[in-house]
Amino acid sequence: MAADTARLICASADLQDSGRAVRFTLDGADGKPLSALALRYQGRVYGYINACRHIPIELDLQDGNVFDLSGQYLVCSMHGALYLPNNGRCVGGPCRGHGLQALPLHEADGQVWLNVMPA
Ligand code: FES
Repeated sequence: MAADTARLICASADLQDSGRAVRFTLDGADGKPLSALALRYQGRVYGYINACRHIPIELDLQDGNVFDLSGQYLVCSMHGALYLPNNGRCVGGPCRGHGLQALPLHEADGQVWLNVMPA
């Protein structure tokens, strides 16, 4: 993929299945940096805006640990909201009815990329 349509996030090897997420930032609509996460689940990479749908604070309190102990859910460290890693849908806790905002990540050549719109 051409560099002007994708932004490098991390090496594929940086993301282990149900392991620590890689944090990165995006430019928010208001010009402020927006926290985001790249993670791997069942072999595939996924990206989400790092903001709980209960209260818009970071899910992981800055360490990239977003999976619960089972490795099957993303959990908010504040009040325990649970999200599915493969689509961000809320399945438990105070986020009910709302999902994480997904980001278009893909892997190529041993690296993880965020698809971006050409300027
Ligand atoms: S802020 Fe995430 S569950 Fe309350």
